[in-house]
Amino acid sequence: MTNAAQPMDVSSTHAPASGSETGVSYGHVLTPGVDISHRGILYLDSISVSFDGFKALNELSLIVDAGELRCVIGPNGAGKTTMMDVITGKTRPDSGSAYFGQTIDLTELTEPEIAGRGIGRKFQKPTVFERHTVFENLELARKADKRVWPTLTSELDSTARDRILTILETIQLAPEASRLAGLLSHGQKQWLEIGMLLMQEPQVLLLDEPVAGMTDDETMRSAELFLTLAGDYTLVVVEHDMDFVARIADRVTVLHEGRVLAEGSMRVVQENEEVIEVFLGR
Ligand SMILES: Nc1ncnc2c1ncn2[C@@H]1O[C@H](COP(=O)(O)OP(=O)(O)OP(=O)(O)O)[C@@H](O)[C@H]1O
Ligand SMILES: [Mg+2]
Repeated sequence: MTNAAQPMDVSSTHAPASGSETGVSYGHVLTPGVDISHRGILYLDSISVSFDGFKALNELSLIVDAGELRCVIGPNGAGKTTMMDVITGKTRPDSGSAYFGQTIDLTELTEPEIAGRGIGRKFQKPTVFERHTVFENLELARKADKRVWPTLTSELDSTARDRILTILETIQLAPEASRLAGLLSHGQKQWLEIGMLLMQEPQVLLLDEPVAGMTDDETMRSAELFLTLAGDYTLVVVEHDMDFVARIADRVTVLHEGRVLAEGSMRVVQENEEVIEVFLGR
């Protein structure tokens, strides 16, 4: 996939104010500086990561378009989480490049800088403030001046309040707004944490095994949520639950031994001989 090697375009130095110029519909304004004039929002080009000589990522190349809902599948140890670690700055690649939009070199930014630029990540274990209500959790997560810990006693302006109410609707937790987060079901905690990520006004959401441990009903509702978020946000979802992937996937990337084995619609990758071999052979 050498055609992935075009992250930089010096001719486009400013970002559009919204996705409308690119034909992509956004529910919110893009972070200034993220140039998606070529549609691609994430570019990984020939990324390699070794752990004690073992190549967890082996010249991995991948482009994700703005507003896409990309599912990444692959057997245990394929490198899926490591890929997210590279995108979020947790792991530095040995070689290769990683760009956010056309101009932001992710390999030069720290983890908090990358989060601040608009790439939000959700780990598998929900980390909500159990002793606070659902509403307060969203309030605490809002993008405030990072030098001052946002306090619950400070006045919430109406914009922040409206945003919280909108997100409560999106994550289907409006009826639970005043419940303590510790009393929510596992699935509800996961949605709350997604809501908390949304409060940070990200453009890209990276979700690692988001429906693991959920009931069938919660899994179905998560599918609805992700389909709602796609378009307004770019989602990269790593999942082992194939029924879930089949339900939400637009494009699927299959990772194996640190590189892309196949990519395309769910139907196309399911019919790929190599993919069948890798999944049945494990
Ligand atoms: N910090 C680390 N030190 C050493 N080896 C690591 C480290 N992180 C990952 N690995 C190894 O790199 C390979 C890829 O791991 P990774 O966690 O990315 O796989 P994965 O596709 O997310 O798997 P799973 O589906 O089980 O979550 C594995 O063999 C793993 O043991
Ligand atoms: Mg993993």
